[in-house]
Amino acid sequence: MVEQDILSLLRQTKDKALAHYSKFHVASVLKTRDGQLITGFNIENSSYGLTICAERVAIFKALSEGHNDFVEVYVMCDGDEPCSPCGACRQILYEYAPDATIIMVTEAGKSRSMHIRDLLPHGFNDKSLHM
Ligand code: THU
Repeated sequence: MVEQDILSLLRQTKDKALAHYSKFHVASVLKTRDGQLITGFNIENSSYGLTICAERVAIFKALSEGHNDFVEVYVMCDGDEPCSPCGACRQILYEYAPDATIIMVTEAGKSRSMHIRDLLPHGFNDKSLHM
């Protein structure tokens, strides 16, 4: 069960999404090992391909503020079923939140959880760069 304070934070964050083209609102909340919560929502652009997902907004914001140890990544989107992070976000989370559990949750609180390594098995990593 997702804690009430995190559910409310996700709902508030999702309401602020800049999703005027798709009308699909997504929020992400990251929890650091020391219990801090960092939020992000999807940010769209009239040049559609420049859109950034909520998860990447949250993690880039967190990293740029000096956070680098994440234990939980929450994702809330519109709809009645929990939705899982897109492939690009999985790759970013795989590298920067390798220990995190990804918790996908609806506005009503229906959730499912998976470890990032199970969401992205055999993800690309920097070992391949140093051959
Ligand atoms: N979106 C996210 O924010 N996270 C995902 O993991 C998948 C999709 C956003 C991008 C776009 O603004 C909208 O949802 C529709 O694709």
